[in-house]
Amino acid sequence: MLKVNLGGCSSFINDAQYKAYAEKALVAFDTLENGTGAGNDFIGWKHIASETPESLIASIEGVRDSWKAKNIDLVVVIGIGGSYLGAKCAIEALSHTFARELRKEGDAPEIIFAGNNLSEDYICEVMDLMKVRNAACVVISKSGTTTEPAVAFRIVKQYLEATYGKAEASERIVAVTDKARGALKSLSTQEGYRTYVIEDNVGGRYSVLTPVGLLPICLAGYDIRAMLKGALEMEEVCAKRCAECNPAIQYAAMRNALYDGGKKIEILVSFAPKLQYLGEWWKQLYGESEGKDKKGIFPASVICTTDLHSMGQYIQDGERTLMETVVTVGEANRSMKIEADAQNLDGLNFLAGLSVEHCNRMAELGTKLAHIDGGVPQLNVTIDKLDEYNLGGLFYFFEKACGISGYLLEVNPFNQPGVEAYKKNMFALLHKPGYEEMTAAIEARL
Ligand code: PA5
Repeated sequence: MLKVNLGGCSSFINDAQYKAYAEKALVAFDTLENGTGAGNDFIGWKHIASETPESLIASIEGVRDSWKAKNIDLVVVIGIGGSYLGAKCAIEALSHTFARELRKEGDAPEIIFAGNNLSEDYICEVMDLMKVRNAACVVISKSGTTTEPAVAFRIVKQYLEATYGKAEASERIVAVTDKARGALKSLSTQEGYRTYVIEDNVGGRYSVLTPVGLLPICLAGYDIRAMLKGALEMEEVCAKRCAECNPAIQYAAMRNALYDGGKKIEILVSFAPKLQYLGEWWKQLYGESEGKDKKGIFPASVICTTDLHSMGQYIQDGERTLMETVVTVGEANRSMKIEADAQNLDGLNFLAGLSVEHCNRMAELGTKLAHIDGGVPQLNVTIDKLDEYNLGGLFYFFEKACGISGYLLEVNPFNQPGVEAYKKNMFALLHKPGYEEMTAAIEARL
């Protein structure tokens, strides 16, 4: 079960200071629990694990089975932001690092992601892969109007129709979108695609435990029932109005205490390279939820020990505005011992008999002490191992803590007004109908 340890902050925030923030976090918790805060029409994710019907899980598993029967070996998941980062994070965390190279017949399809950028090279390379594989597509957009996924989907849809025929293409496309609004919804209805709904009251970055995340994760061959079980147990733990036993309250309280004490940047750290995309998912969740009204902790991420050889110098010795949240994985899924060597030319015999993971642990511990000594407080989140159950709990924990933390910071953690600015400029520059005045104004500035 996930645990939060705040011991690495004790030389920065004293007991009395922490207690004051824990009190504030309890008030923020009440606001979230009672649905009385800003954005309270977007808190449907709170009970998503306990409210996911068996019929939905069975239906998602049905898509997996029907595509297996067609020997589909590549699924292109189209989406951006909250419509892809959770699935990408889970699949990377659970997959063999070299799954593609080790692929064999009968394996679950390879999942690749598109529509999360506007790079021409990238989409051309997606198409290169589709052309040599037996492909299908999941297109995900809550609004159904986001440009990046819409452009990618138009290209992928046209390819599937040209290659397999219109009827078969519609068997190979599943859409996840709003129940009524948006171009993707109307297109899906018209084309007869299987469609899953993102409920109105769940925002994109809080949607990993809905079909947005569950469908790609299931298609990749992972156990979404175990993931929901982990999330459900965390939902119960994080529903307790208890500053001593609710990890979401503890995390929200401490990071805000540190922020007000001048630690403006939070780095999510993991010593498990498979958690690189946890950092990406978490950055969106916290950055988009809290970075508004000219405030908010800036979220960054590193993977260690890799990044200790690039970012380590700055973290140890650069500007002292940093805090770290280290996500520790309790035990490795594999084991590899370092053997003694008769010649000991590399001088490593002092490690003989130890596991590589033990060395990783010592690196983690040594880094923790060094960074604390260097003025970087450490919050610690530990999960038992990297599996579906623990990831489900981790996702839920960070979502709940984000809602509490956002209210503690006195922002609306469920909107993202700032994301619109670049879109308006882009539409004006692309001469989208309706933007004529803005096009003239923006072109005059260039
Ligand atoms: O959290 C959010 O709401 C956003 O990051 C969205 O997930 C992202 O902009 C994609 O939006 P949509 O799913 O509507 O295409």
